[in-house]
Amino acid sequence: MIKNVTIVGVGWMGRGIAQACAQGDCNVVIHDLDPGILGQARAEMKSRLGYMMEKGLIAEGSVESAMSKVSSTVNLEEAMKTADLVIEAVPEVMDTKKEVFRQMDKLCREKTILATNTSTMSISAIGAATSKPERVVGMHWFYPAYIMPPVEIIRSDKTADLIVNEARDFLLNLGKMPVVCKEVPGFLINRLQMALSNEATSLLEQGVATAEDIDNAARMSLGLRVPFWGVLKNEDMGVPKNMLLRGYEYTYQQTGSDKFRPTELMREMVRKGELGLISGKGYYNYTEETPESFAHERDEMIIKLLKFLAELGYAKLP
Ligand SMILES: NC(=O)c1ccc[n+]([C@@H]2O[C@H](COP(=O)([O-])OP(=O)(O)OC[C@H]3O[C@@H](n4cnc5c(N)ncnc54)[C@H](O)[C@@H]3O)[C@@H](O)[C@H]2O)c1
Repeated sequence: MIKNVTIVGVGWMGRGIAQACAQGDCNVVIHDLDPGILGQARAEMKSRLGYMMEKGLIAEGSVESAMSKVSSTVNLEEAMKTADLVIEAVPEVMDTKKEVFRQMDKLCREKTILATNTSTMSISAIGAATSKPERVVGMHWFYPAYIMPPVEIIRSDKTADLIVNEARDFLLNLGKMPVVCKEVPGFLINRLQMALSNEATSLLEQGVATAEDIDNAARMSLGLRVPFWGVLKNEDMGVPKNMLLRGYEYTYQQTGSDKFRPTELMREMVRKGELGLISGKGYYNYTEETPESFAHERDEMIIKLLKFLAELGYAKLP
């Protein structure tokens, strides 16, 4: 079980990750090249822990107990001594990351897991700088790391299953929502985000709608469903896939754009009659849920969310 965590580089991201680990009762060593940055990181962590307590997200008195678990050093050897897990958050420059991993590999214990918070870079290339690429994994946190639930675990071809499982258990213990993916450019979350944002920008560029209307369309359609069901389950719950496929094919023919070319997976599902909730199977199996029970749940959840957004002035109630 991972208990001792070292964060290498405590700038914008590293200090938030360190805070999340300390909140989760880990012993945390923070390391940076500059002692001034270590001091700033500690001060910021303490102040944000106070904020978390104010908001009722951590218990009274836990600011001091969390901070008492954090030690700082500019000495990398010292920082590696007891680490079960090291999370590197140095700047997004491949040569810098490789050099840091080369050094950490020499200094850390045999069983230490070496994780990188890279947003874009190859986990394989970073792992290749070490003698144990099977112990190297991507662990991509989102800003602000002490609040945001998802953390991507990115595995290279060399990353061992055991390491992925240990990383996942560690994040679950911190109360995070780990999502595991293979090493592809953009990983998981940025890929999804890029597809949607790129289409929004493209529609704006073509003069199809104003920025405000594009944003309102996204907020009040997908935005009211995705928080509950995600993208794939949301699709399962909606229009049966055979009809959806027709819509994709028509849009693909009309635009000639690969963006709308239906996947082989969707065609195959339609051939097999896996149309979504309506047929009992889509991306998921539905044994208990029925279209009627889902309609009830859907309306309940959307009304709750709409009321909440309306209270904050972000939506209007029907
Ligand atoms: N900024 C974001 O929103 C965000 C989100 C997710 C992931 N990331 C990734 O996290 C990583 C860090 O990004 P950031 O925005 O926190 O950068 P940053 O520049 O704010 O912080 C980097 C820190 O690393 C330190 N550093 C530099 N070289 C070092 C070395 N050799 N050893 C130890 N410390 C060293 C710097 O002094 C600095 O404090 C990058 O890989 C980035 O892509 C960033």
